[in-house]
Amino acid sequence: MTMETRYLGLKLAHPVVASASPLSANVDGICRMEDAGAAAVVMPSLFEEQLRAEAAILERLTESIADHYAESLSFFPSIGTYKASSDEYLETLQTARERTDIPIMASLNGVTAEGWIEHARSLESAGANAIELNVYYLPTDLDETGAEVERRYADIVHAVKATVSIPVAVKVGPQFSAFGHTARSLAAAGADGIVMFNRFYRPDFDIDTLEASRALSLSSAEEIRQGLFWLSLLHGKVDASLAASSGVETHEQVVKYLLAGADIVMTTSALLRHGPEHLTGLRDGLEAWMEQRGFSSIADLRGLMSIGRVSDPTAYERANYIQLLEEYEVDSG
Ligand SMILES: Cc1cc2nc3c(=O)[nH]c(=O)nc-3n(C[C@H](O)[C@H](O)[C@H](O)COP(=O)(O)O)c2cc1C
Repeated sequence: MTMETRYLGLKLAHPVVASASPLSANVDGICRMEDAGAAAVVMPSLFEEQLRAEAAILERLTESIADHYAESLSFFPSIGTYKASSDEYLETLQTARERTDIPIMASLNGVTAEGWIEHARSLESAGANAIELNVYYLPTDLDETGAEVERRYADIVHAVKATVSIPVAVKVGPQFSAFGHTARSLAAAGADGIVMFNRFYRPDFDIDTLEASRALSLSSAEEIRQGLFWLSLLHGKVDASLAASSGVETHEQVVKYLLAGADIVMTTSALLRHGPEHLTGLRDGLEAWMEQRGFSSIADLRGLMSIGRVSDPTAYERANYIQLLEEYEVDSG
């Protein structure tokens, strides 16, 4: 039996991948994930805002040197001692690349297709096997149209692809009016893969203090359903790899995502809850399930439950929905 799979053109030993989180922020963390059996690891994101702030600091330091150059060369050390967190990120990536054998993906998180994207080249030089581009964008401008939002995503993908030669995946949320078309536009803009889905962290209100609270809640297995639907619809219909993300707690969700049509399945919350060693159980659970059912490869089960083959998925889904509502029994007790 083989559990090998391909993602973004990379060969992975199996489909279970550690998604971006603080667990992969340092070399030891990445090595621990490899030891636990991760097929690949995504590092946490470098943010556009962070990269812009660092560039602004460097510019100020450089200006200060230029202003005082005539007076003293002693200003030079100030630039030498400035260590950006993006430099540390590159060092972590480079060392992790040397110490591990699994693919390591670096992550960039931004919302414009401007200068910061150049940083993708440094990630490639530091040894990233691929870049995951997280476009965490909330369109709060009520004049911005859906088409403009999609254009923004495609422009960012296009700009990053023009900067590097390694594969680029784009991680998106599900809030598009026609996600299938969005996925195709992203592939047309050059995305080698689409990660479905990002979780958007929304504020809550504290009704005692009348303040907004920003607690970060981890996901639950219920959350796979939206991804299951879109994966099963898009399987075989988009010219890009498909990664499932959100709600993987046990190997059962891994199996379901693969049956829907995912090329790989990512997990973060479960690893934060149970530790990186939980990866071993996810991989072994998938393997045991495949053995029990007599599947000899991931390719044999991928997309088996895809609804893409249904001639009219919209009518099919509506029929399911109507039936569900009709069958619901009110608990009279
Ligand atoms: C504490 C924490 C930190 C995260 N940091 C990042 C990040 O830096 N970049 C990113 O793209 N996603 C980040 N994520 C999102 C995860 O990679 C993942 O997409 C999300 O948690 C859904 O997967 P899950 O249900 O398996 O947790 C983070 C999630 C958590 C909980």
